[in-house]
Amino acid sequence: MHSHLVGHGSFLPPKIVTNDDLSKIVETSDDWIFPRTGIKQRHLVENETTADLGEQAALKAIESAGWTVDQVDLIILATSTPDMDFPSTATLIQNKIGATKGFAFDVQAVCSGFIYALSTADLYLRAGKAKRAIVIGAERMSALLDWTDRTTCVLFGDGAGAMALEAKEDDSAGIIDSILYSDGTFSDILCAGSPEHAKTYMNGREVFRHAVSKMADVSKEILEKNNLHFSEVTHFIPHQANERIIQHIGHDLGLSTEQVISTVKNHANTSAASIPLAFDEIACAGKVKKGDLLLFTALGAGITWGSNLIRL
Ligand code: UT7
Repeated sequence: MHSHLVGHGSFLPPKIVTNDDLSKIVETSDDWIFPRTGIKQRHLVENETTADLGEQAALKAIESAGWTVDQVDLIILATSTPDMDFPSTATLIQNKIGATKGFAFDVQAVCSGFIYALSTADLYLRAGKAKRAIVIGAERMSALLDWTDRTTCVLFGDGAGAMALEAKEDDSAGIIDSILYSDGTFSDILCAGSPEHAKTYMNGREVFRHAVSKMADVSKEILEKNNLHFSEVTHFIPHQANERIIQHIGHDLGLSTEQVISTVKNHANTSAASIPLAFDEIACAGKVKKGDLLLFTALGAGITWGSNLIRL
């Protein structure tokens, strides 16, 4: 069995906050934010919940796959901003979209969450434990920010993206491989909800250092392991945290500007939602086609990191 990527969707809350808007609430400016991060604006929730964001992205992915909701038998949500302690937000989304079959659960790997969730769904589909999976990354990062801390509040945004995966015998396409890593010795460089840091705390320089080296290394590893070369990658979609990190990795891997996808300018860092949001944007723009080779990679708090390699 192979997990074919057959649908995609995304949802951004309508409220847009620009760098100039932020300069009215904290001591910052577009002149500081844009050159260091590539971010110009972010979408932020007003009353929307994580389940609301995930619901909209999931419904679009189901429609784009040409499925009906009752065909979905697995829902995996990657999020660090669940709506409740329990039940899982995945079950809230299951209820909202009206799915009644199969099972739903959350995965927590922060900015690497979508990579982890896609890998998990792939294993269920390959094992014959499910046939049609919706994998969602949905985040309300705004809920985890200290809006008086300019070092973090300018970096994040809210949103959701989703992909529809279908188990098929056809081995000409599908998720080729996933590689996941974590190293808990760095759990203190990026965290929220600890006794010391109720809201998001980040040692930006340390995170930057890990991000550029580990995302590049795991991208090389997954291609080498599968006897593929960077020249064969159609779209490289790294986690969208910072334009400088994205460009640094693209340069390190010898990728062309056409191969490297960046949406951080308009979305900021949407954590687990960033990769499916970026994919949905290029797919809706007609930039993907059958046979394309996709390489996703992310690094997030934990620290966690990894890659997925997919043939469309
Ligand atoms: O998904 C998780 C992944 N996260 C990331 O990938 C983020 C990785 N890190 C980064 O992208 C960068 O470290 C940042 C963009 C977060 C920060 O850039 P930096 O060049 O490392 O700046 P810094 O933190 O060293 O701060 C430099 C100066 C400081 O002022 P002083 O102490 O030199 O006077 C900060 O207080 O910039 C100041 N500063 C700001 N000034 C205006 C920090 N944030 C701001 C701000 N506006 N928003």
